Amino acid sequence: MSEKPIAIASDHAGYEMKAMLAEMLRSDGWEVLDLGTDGPQSVDYPDFGMAMAETIAAGRAERGILVCGTGIGISIAANRNPKVRAAVCHDVTSARLARAHNDANVLALGARLIGAEVARDCVAAFLTTPFEGGRHAARVAKLG
Ligand code: RB5
Repeated sequence: MSEKPIAIASDHAGYEMKAMLAEMLRSDGWEVLDLGTDGPQSVDYPDFGMAMAETIAAGRAERGILVCGTGIGISIAANRNPKVRAAVCHDVTSARLARAHNDANVLALGARLIGAEVARDCVAAFLTTPFEGGRHAARVAKLG
């Protein structure tokens, strides 16, 4: 992976988990590009999913992390951009395989569904697992 920052974004439901993960990433030495939201006030998740998509598509970040209540709405928004492969993951195995098989460039988490420990483990798997390529490469190419 390049030295580009990790982009992170959430709606209000994911705000606390986003703050926790951003802190974890910074203390692990990552530069974090925080796209908001900036507090617990109610906002619309599509705005933040689309901000992530624009950031990835423009090359300002290579990987992104999204958090909403379920991870679903914000990932649907991001995935409307063909440059984005956002995977909703609730466990480490999904996060690992999203990278190894799907070359996911965005991890989406549900703050109302998983705890902090699982979220941290998912992020670690997402950031450290390489794409396997091989038989998966042509399939991933078809997604674009
Ligand atoms: C917000 O209440 C909630 O709908 C949102 O965070 C997300 O779960 C949508 O998919």
